[in-house]
Amino acid sequence: MKGLTLESKHLRLREDLSLPVPNAHELLVKVMYATVNPTDADTVAGNHALLAKLLGAKRHLVNTGLEFSGIVQKSGKRFKQGDRIFGYVDLLKGIKTHQEYICIAEDFVALMPAQLSFEESAAMPLGALTSLIALQDLGQVSKGSKVLINGASGGLGVYAIQIARLLGANVTAVAGTNTEAFLSNLGANQVINYQQQPLKSLQHKFDLILDLSTLVKYPQIKHLLHKHGKFIPANPFNNLPYFIGNAFRNKKVKYLMVENGDSEKLALISSWAAQGKLRPVVDSVFSLADYAQAFRRIGEKGRRGRVVMQMSEE
Ligand SMILES: NC(=O)c1ccc[n+]([C@@H]2O[C@H](COP(=O)([O-])OP(=O)(O)OC[C@H]3O[C@@H](n4cnc5c(N)ncnc54)[C@H](OP(=O)(O)O)[C@@H]3O)[C@@H](O)[C@H]2O)c1
Repeated sequence: MKGLTLESKHLRLREDLSLPVPNAHELLVKVMYATVNPTDADTVAGNHALLAKLLGAKRHLVNTGLEFSGIVQKSGKRFKQGDRIFGYVDLLKGIKTHQEYICIAEDFVALMPAQLSFEESAAMPLGALTSLIALQDLGQVSKGSKVLINGASGGLGVYAIQIARLLGANVTAVAGTNTEAFLSNLGANQVINYQQQPLKSLQHKFDLILDLSTLVKYPQIKHLLHKHGKFIPANPFNNLPYFIGNAFRNKKVKYLMVENGDSEKLALISSWAAQGKLRPVVDSVFSLADYAQAFRRIGEKGRRGRVVMQMSEE
């Protein structure tokens, strides 16, 4: 089968990889589309190597690809052969999705949203699930919560805006130039251009600040939080010192790391999407042969939603 292997910080498209064999708790899935994420670009650059090692990650031939849509090849306990599913993998450890076939535990997948294509479905799982965990579980967002999403036009932000609105929040979205109409259309109540107005100069206070740019440190925004406000950095490792202070103040820095399977939440995301309450946002689509272009796109500014790559023909 085909897949992207990582060799000395270079990706290579190989066609001679062995078909994986599922264990008793796994599905064998033909991957139709997979996304390319900023985390994949970091993996290629070797930025996560030490952390992954510390977390006990094993070396695999394929090391990139965090989400997918695909077709079940061999029935499991909850999903049967021919089911169209979408899902995600642990960010740092375990298998990755830039290969034609994967073996994956059933907890990490759900049935694809009914009306959506494989291409659109692949663009959703990790961004929507991470947003839902951040907003609902960690942020306890509810009706009337004031939420600021920094880095709102990318692969997570486009879902964070929509989900925050579904939970009843008032959403301020911060993104680059020419994004106002796009982000308002996704449900943002206010849109701020980070190139014109720095975060720290804002006058309003928020119950939750979700930073998807990964550039913000807690001291830079703590004055923007209400007394019991929460700050959730998408990369918690950039804010490690500020978790220690949680014990001594009302305002909290929350630890966000999606690593477990949560089929139930993914099924909720699927049903929201099927009802048209949550829309997929595909920035661009590449063939597997054009993987280098897909990874180059990750390095460019102004992306909207996810970069998607076709892995197989139906
Ligand atoms: N903790 C977890 O469990 C978890 C799970 C999934 C992903 N992540 C991480 O979450 C982060 C976001 O992922 P993503 O897929 O949404 O990334 P992305 O698509 O690259 O989006 C990042 C956004 O940040 C914006 N941005 C850049 N500089 C900014 C600034 N100075 N101020 C405000 N916004 C700025 C970008 O806008 P421009 O294009 O205009 O620059 C872009 O919209 C990544 O680092 C990823 O690794 C964490």
